[in-house]
Amino acid sequence: MAYDLFHVVIIIFLVFLPLHFSPIKANTDVSFSINLIRKTSPKLFPQRLRGLSAMSGTPQSPTGAYLGHYLMELSIGTPPFKIYGIADTGSDLTWTQCVPCNNCYKQLNPMFDPQKSSSYSNISCDSNLCHELDTGVCSPQKQCNYTYAYASGSITQGVLAQETVTLTSTTGTNILLKGIMFGCGHNNTGGFNDHEMGIIGLGGGPVSLISQIGSSFGGKMFSQCLVPFHTDVSVYSKMSFGKGSEVSGEGVVSTPLVAKEDKTPYFVTLLGISVGNNYLHYNGSSETVEKGNMFLDSGTPPTILPTQFYDPVVAEMKNQVAMEPIVDDPDLGFQLCYQTKKNLHGPILTAHFEGADVTLEPIQTFISPKDGVFCLGFTNTSSDVGIYGNFAQSNYLIGFDLEAQVVSFKPRDCTKNTES
Ligand SMILES: *[C@@H]1O[C@H](CO)[C@@H](O)[C@H](O)[C@H]1NC(C)=O
Ligand SMILES: *[C@@H]1O[C@H](CO)[C@@H](O)[C@H](O)[C@H]1NC(C)=O
Ligand SMILES: *[C@@H]1O[C@H](CO)[C@@H](O)[C@H](O)[C@H]1NC(C)=O
Ligand SMILES: *[C@@H]1O[C@H](CO)[C@@H](O)[C@H](O)[C@H]1NC(C)=O
Ligand SMILES: *[C@@H]1O[C@H](CO)[C@@H](O)[C@H](O)[C@H]1NC(C)=O
Repeated sequence: MAYDLFHVVIIIFLVFLPLHFSPIKANTDVSFSINLIRKTSPKLFPQRLRGLSAMSGTPQSPTGAYLGHYLMELSIGTPPFKIYGIADTGSDLTWTQCVPCNNCYKQLNPMFDPQKSSSYSNISCDSNLCHELDTGVCSPQKQCNYTYAYASGSITQGVLAQETVTLTSTTGTNILLKGIMFGCGHNNTGGFNDHEMGIIGLGGGPVSLISQIGSSFGGKMFSQCLVPFHTDVSVYSKMSFGKGSEVSGEGVVSTPLVAKEDKTPYFVTLLGISVGNNYLHYNGSSETVEKGNMFLDSGTPPTILPTQFYDPVVAEMKNQVAMEPIVDDPDLGFQLCYQTKKNLHGPILTAHFEGADVTLEPIQTFISPKDGVFCLGFTNTSSDVGIYGNFAQSNYLIGFDLEAQVVSFKPRDCTKNTES
């Protein structure tokens, strides 16, 4: 099992970097012909809430860890059909494998069947919605066919459709969201495992679930609390949407979101990282810290830093761990690994975001790809823009407030969040 796990960790590594992140794309040997250019059209998705009152509470979705990804539960269709998709703040399109399947990967649960849902509708290629996704093309039946590709080479193809999404609120009420646009994936390939039924796109671009929900729940905001990497899949935390998902109170730190042309990623500014008490300044291609030099991605496991910054962080880590690292084992997928029967004793890291110091315990920085081995869950890129990955996001309640344009962090044991 541990052996499988480490293989999966490597395979899934870059799967969920969306295609638009071109510097990473350049490092992969896959060639891409699809260009996703984002447009903004805030009025595209009008309010579609039915019967929501102040008493309805905050809508939530259970989210658990499985092999480096976070699976989020969502019900689509009428009657509601449960799907478990990868929660991905680094991409926009929500899609699930649909029958009839021309070419799908193996999935344990049954696939969504549009014919069994009375609320399913195809999006016509004449519709503006079709052109929100730049890869939307017209099929002979005037359906809107889409292609959505990720930097690892994973691709989903199918038709764009609309469905009713059902969320459950804190008070137990079902909340129906009608006409949510999603991809019915008929041809899906890539490093997916059989628990994953698709991807839930939680990015900031116009077609993402977050943008479609908009401020329907009293404010354009959501929060997540990701359980640590090796947590049993039956232990889950909750993703919350709208009012009531604010992250506030004692111990909260906040950093501004940085708006860039690409609306999908949630960009923030990382000034530096302290390894123990030793502060290392962020170093991209220029030594001045650019605004928005990192983005938070729940779909990418490791934290990815520009090489010129990554190298000193690794060197300082080696300095401070009182053990000899494993030398050059490319199979592990990480450069800095240690072998120990006990838990690894490593320094506390502090990510110094603009206005927010976020401390990371060894459990948030070292992952165990196989028994007795612990690897620093960081890797490097030749790009100037880094990624704050999901290992480092675990055990923090993280709130994305898209109205105030801030991200807030509050330390929390996310496994103690399971009251349902
Ligand atoms: C599925 O998509 C791949 C590209 O991702 C394409 O090469 C292949 O022809 C498609 N297969 C079918 C049955 O549409
Ligand atoms: C959606 O399009 C497919 C393919 O053209 C068709 O088979 C199906 O009946 C359509 N579904 C609805 C609800 O119109
Ligand atoms: C549109 O998508 C359907 C379902 O995946 C597929 O059967 C059809 O060949 C596609 N048509 C075009 C023109 O891409
Ligand atoms: C930043 O990286 C460049 C290129 O590797 C290097 O020359 C420079 O010394 C680094 N600056 C700091 C402050 O480490
Ligand atoms: C990552 O870092 C290693 C070691 O410093 C280096 O050899 C490699 O070229 C770097 N990779 C990228 C993509 O920059």
